Amino acid sequence: MAKPQLWLRCETKKFERRAALTPTTAKKLIDAGFEIFVERDEQRIFDDSEYEAVGCKLVDNNSWPNAPTNVPIIGLKELPESSEPLRHTHIQFAHCYKNQAGWSSILARFYRGGGTLYDLEFLNDANGRRVAAFGYHAGFAGAATGALALASQRKGKKLGLLEPYPNEAAMVADVRKALGGSGKGLKVMVIGALGRCGRGACDLLRKIGLNEDDILKWDINETKKGGPFQEILDVDIFVNCIYLLSATPAFITKETIKTAGKGRRLSVVVDVSCDTTNPFNPIPIYNVNTTFSHPTVPVEVAPGNPPMSVVSIDHLPTLLPREASEQFSSDLLPSVLEFPKRETARVWTDAEKLFKQKLGAALQEEGR
Ligand SMILES: NC(=O)c1ccc[n+]([C@@H]2O[C@H](COP(=O)([O-])OP(=O)(O)OC[C@H]3O[C@@H](n4cnc5c(N)ncnc54)[C@H](O)[C@@H]3O)[C@@H](O)[C@H]2O)c1
Repeated sequence: MAKPQLWLRCETKKFERRAALTPTTAKKLIDAGFEIFVERDEQRIFDDSEYEAVGCKLVDNNSWPNAPTNVPIIGLKELPESSEPLRHTHIQFAHCYKNQAGWSSILARFYRGGGTLYDLEFLNDANGRRVAAFGYHAGFAGAATGALALASQRKGKKLGLLEPYPNEAAMVADVRKALGGSGKGLKVMVIGALGRCGRGACDLLRKIGLNEDDILKWDINETKKGGPFQEILDVDIFVNCIYLLSATPAFITKETIKTAGKGRRLSVVVDVSCDTTNPFNPIPIYNVNTTFSHPTVPVEVAPGNPPMSVVSIDHLPTLLPREASEQFSSDLLPSVLEFPKRETARVWTDAEKLFKQKLGAALQEEGR
């Protein structure tokens, strides 16, 4: 019987160093009988040689369009914009199922080429939970960015360009250094603390030296009394990690910040959830997403009041490409091992059903 095959394509999105398959997971797939092709990619955090060493076959950068159409292509982020028909089966985040800009034309490319999309964002287990997500490292990197922003703010400066770290230890060391050796003494509130992002945020805070009692961990039980919450104004950093499902009273407002006046302790808000333009955003004190080159946006405060800024970067795990890829890829692995049985394996049949549903809607939108 022919071996099941997978083709790891390069990522073309700027700053994206993560990978859907790592040398570790590629080796496990090879051990299970897969043949793995890997496009050479200098942007990827893992060296081509690391894949070669575990038995992957290296192929040219961005050569997947010429791969045989029966070889499934796996990647992480969106493909570059184009009108070229898509003939292959693609496993990736396509960001076209929630009516995002250009959603129907992306799906129409699959229709024209006869390809299939299995969107990683919609691979769920039997309980409806994502089989793999990047939350933990988003929270970890978000809390780190918040601490760096606070350190800069205390020196009267604005946090500058952020670049991906080679590993978690390097990030922790950098944050500790910026804070003068340790984060001990800082008080931080994490809301959504029981979730993936929240757990990552708390772990970073422990690793930079905060006392456990100085990490206020709130989740749904603590916020059900309804905000705004004075407790947030009384910490140095607030990290929001909730999964916003419905309208919820604001956690803090411009008004409560103003009322707190000169006595406010809160200096930095990290909105990991990044529901920036959502009408139910529980942090209605800013309205733009920040970036690696400009990680913070100032919040307007009255003259003489302490400064305050918001971090609202929506691709935080990119700051820790190695660990974020390892964790995501190993969570995805059990499903990938089932991919050759995708006509019967529930995780894949559900994803294909959703694709067909969205494709139908897209064709209607495109007037076909
Ligand atoms: N900025 C980024 O780079 C980035 C990366 C990954 C995920 N995210 C976003 O982070 C958010 C959280 O993702 P996750 O994977 O951690 O979700 P999750 O489901 O694992 O955890 C969310 C937590 O929020 C809690 N929660 C929900 N509503 C709440 C409320 N009103 N008050 C208090 N707690 C509440 C839940 O009980 C849960 O514990 C999502 O919106 C996700 O899209 C952002």
